[in-house]
Amino acid sequence: MPTDQTVKTLIHGEWNVSSSHKTVDIYSPHKNELIGQVPSLSQEELDASIKSTVEAQVAWESKSIQDRGDILKKWADILEERKEDIGHAIMNEVAKKKGSAVSEVTRTADYIRYTVEEAFRLDGDVKRGDGFKGGSPQKIGMVEKAPLGTILAIGPFNYPVNLSASKIAPALMQGNSVIFKPATQGAISGIKMVEALIDAGLPKELITIATGRGSVIGDFLVQHPSVDMITFTGGTGTGRHISELSSMIPVVLELGGKDPAIVLEDADLDKTAKEIVQGAYSYSGQRCTAIKRVLVKDEIADELAGKIQAQVDDLSVGMPEDNATITPLINQKSADDVQNLIDDAKEKGATVVTGDKREDNLLYPTLLDHVTADMNVAWEEPFGPVLPIIRVSDQEEAIRLANESEYGLQASVFSKDTERAISIANRLEVGSVQLNAKTERGPDHFPFLGVKASGLGVQGIQESLLSVVRDKVTIINM
Ligand code: G3H
Repeated sequence: MPTDQTVKTLIHGEWNVSSSHKTVDIYSPHKNELIGQVPSLSQEELDASIKSTVEAQVAWESKSIQDRGDILKKWADILEERKEDIGHAIMNEVAKKKGSAVSEVTRTADYIRYTVEEAFRLDGDVKRGDGFKGGSPQKIGMVEKAPLGTILAIGPFNYPVNLSASKIAPALMQGNSVIFKPATQGAISGIKMVEALIDAGLPKELITIATGRGSVIGDFLVQHPSVDMITFTGGTGTGRHISELSSMIPVVLELGGKDPAIVLEDADLDKTAKEIVQGAYSYSGQRCTAIKRVLVKDEIADELAGKIQAQVDDLSVGMPEDNATITPLINQKSADDVQNLIDDAKEKGATVVTGDKREDNLLYPTLLDHVTADMNVAWEEPFGPVLPIIRVSDQEEAIRLANESEYGLQASVFSKDTERAISIANRLEVGSVQLNAKTERGPDHFPFLGVKASGLGVQGIQESLLSVVRDKVTIINM
């Protein structure tokens, strides 16, 4: 039943609860208390709302790109004005430290502004008709970028505002309408973000916010005949499922990772340790791009492990309100999964350098050394603060282990020999390689992609704008 804690969702052009009065409870991961509820929509309610969202797209597409851009720029301004309030919601809902929760909102405002500017620059093309044998100069092909129609944007819990807006903004800017399915944990923050968009002047029908139980509405949305494209960030299992269910429509998937940091004997170990610790442990390791294994040459492994340990021991552990780097994980199950990886490694002979302490879903930052290929933590993605060190005899072994992973999101190579680092980067089966720096998505206008089980398609601002349009060719016959 809705209560005064129920946050209304946007359906059928209205802020409303479900007509069934069903709700989904949202608990704070760190306070362990109910912080709100969102409507649990039925398939029938969603179907009706999607119909109005599809209809609204026609008028939106016919607006000038300048007019659409004006609304989105205002959205960015409002988000920035509300950064404390929305940041507070993110912090409460996903236990992200306060500073990062607020900067997620400002990063989002910057992302939206860049999206608007970039969309202005994406023009179509003109083709000459006599460029192919038998063609004619009397034929001219006008190639425009047309919106796909209605985009299903499915966001993750770890960036409930940023990774949702980075799907919604390009879709709207290019003249599409949007069905937004927030992660359940993150839905309150996502709704607040859309409230800002409506306050900026977006017609309400243009977005349906599909809150509810994934088991009820997930497959229904993915298979809905009015959905023209799906953009998803989340786990690889769900990504595969979406890719199997969706039929004859484009999908962009940003999935899991097992990003290696390859450390060669000539690396600057102080800098390397600093980058690795930031890369592995920020937001308690709950980032697809976190460094999730270190592959280090044997001869420098002891020294590197010592330097990493010193920094890990300095990490603040506690509550997001206190700006701690390591905060409780999103739920108990997630903490159990990470703990199982630690326990399995210990049983098989890994050394706990530091950490391996737990208070409910708060896991202390853990560094494991002497991890070997028979341990699950060598291959599985922990969405938590544990980092395995795998010692290798030479760079060939490092490259082989890096590529043996099912994942292929990003990798780091640490070496003072740039030529050597580039030659290794060229052999790594990943979307991006960072030389002498931690893995990360930003700057946000760079192409961002994973290969193998890490994803499909490309994000990044220009690429995201191109992912929600198709070519429309009109041929003038003179
Ligand atoms: O969790 C997946 C995100 O795309 C990671 O983004 O590298 O900025 O933390 P980030």
